[in-house]
Amino acid sequence: MNEARDGSLFESIVIPGSMEPTPLSSIDWATLGFSVTVTPYMVGSVAGADGAFEAPATVRTGALRIPPQACVLNYGQALFEGQKARLGVDGKLRLFRSGDNARRMASGAERLMLAVPPEELYLEAVRAAVKANVDYVPPLGKGSLYIRPLLAGVGMTLAPAPADATLLVVYVQPVGAYFKGLSCIAVKVEDAYQRAAARGTGWVKAAGNYAPCFYPAKKAKAEGFADLLFLDHQGRHVEEVGAANFAMVKDGALYVADSPSILRGITRDSVMRVARESLGLEVVFAPLELDRVLGLGAYESAGPADEAFCMGTAAVISPIGSMRWKERDYAIGDGGVGSATAAIFDAIDGIQTGRLPDPFGWTTIVE
Ligand code: PLP
Ligand code: COI
Repeated sequence: MNEARDGSLFESIVIPGSMEPTPLSSIDWATLGFSVTVTPYMVGSVAGADGAFEAPATVRTGALRIPPQACVLNYGQALFEGQKARLGVDGKLRLFRSGDNARRMASGAERLMLAVPPEELYLEAVRAAVKANVDYVPPLGKGSLYIRPLLAGVGMTLAPAPADATLLVVYVQPVGAYFKGLSCIAVKVEDAYQRAAARGTGWVKAAGNYAPCFYPAKKAKAEGFADLLFLDHQGRHVEEVGAANFAMVKDGALYVADSPSILRGITRDSVMRVARESLGLEVVFAPLELDRVLGLGAYESAGPADEAFCMGTAAVISPIGSMRWKERDYAIGDGGVGSATAAIFDAIDGIQTGRLPDPFGWTTIVE
């Protein structure tokens, strides 16, 4: 990377005037989905070969000057985070478990040999991006401000080797439902493709984990499914949906799929703590057999799950009403939203919006 004459290295790679923000007046809060809206400002910082990030700078949102030889473009050295800021019932803006996102980014950065942003720098960049675009926070009940911090190896390399410069960018944008909100989706269990290798990087929010899902997901969506549920390399245990973790309820217990090759979801952790500590549910956090989900094999007499849902920052808590596995459809419960799913949704939504107390200390108010 070239040294900037003025300002930061980050400012030197932003192309001024190259992007127009989406006018606020053109946003219809009622129909907001999960697609691109360009907000006016973004925040960034670059770390050079010494791995030290400069102070984050807030700039007008613009395209980035990245050389064709950048490691990220050739070898996919990149990862990202996803979190949300929500307007509360008291009119205050809350962030949810930001420190956990910062720590997850740090562990992924180590794995991909990107420079590791210190937690305080990550938090400062997130807060600055939210504050700069506060006009784009959706009204209460209409969505959230989605925060996308990303880390990319932008230094040049020809041989596959880590870049000597890492870019941290935080952009934000308003979003509505990723799936259908709190109404049931149909999911296809994928039997031809796997998402992540057993000892690979499925647990990292690596950019390279997502593109391989596009092809099987496109096929599933064309068949009318909201998304895919991936299995482990033996095809026995449930892993996760392309962008969310998976759980089911049976006889009053919550079964949450664990695996070394899935993302350690922050929503997943929140769901387990709320279920156990606030709702008094038994929580089984362990490898989850597909047979147990669908009521097959040893679980045939028990039948399929009473409830199932996927969970994530974007997906929130998305109930699953039916699942297809090898040409056969399995109804989950009565096809409606189950009571445990609804109670978990309500508890987390209540904490995020200040409608309920936050006994876990998960939220921070953006002043
Ligand atoms: N699994 C994958 C593959 C994801 O991309 C996400 C989204 O971040 C999740 C699970 C859920 O993680 P979290 O709850 O931290 O958003
Ligand atoms: C999230 O839930 O924040 C994600 O990153 C999932 C996805 C939109 C890729």
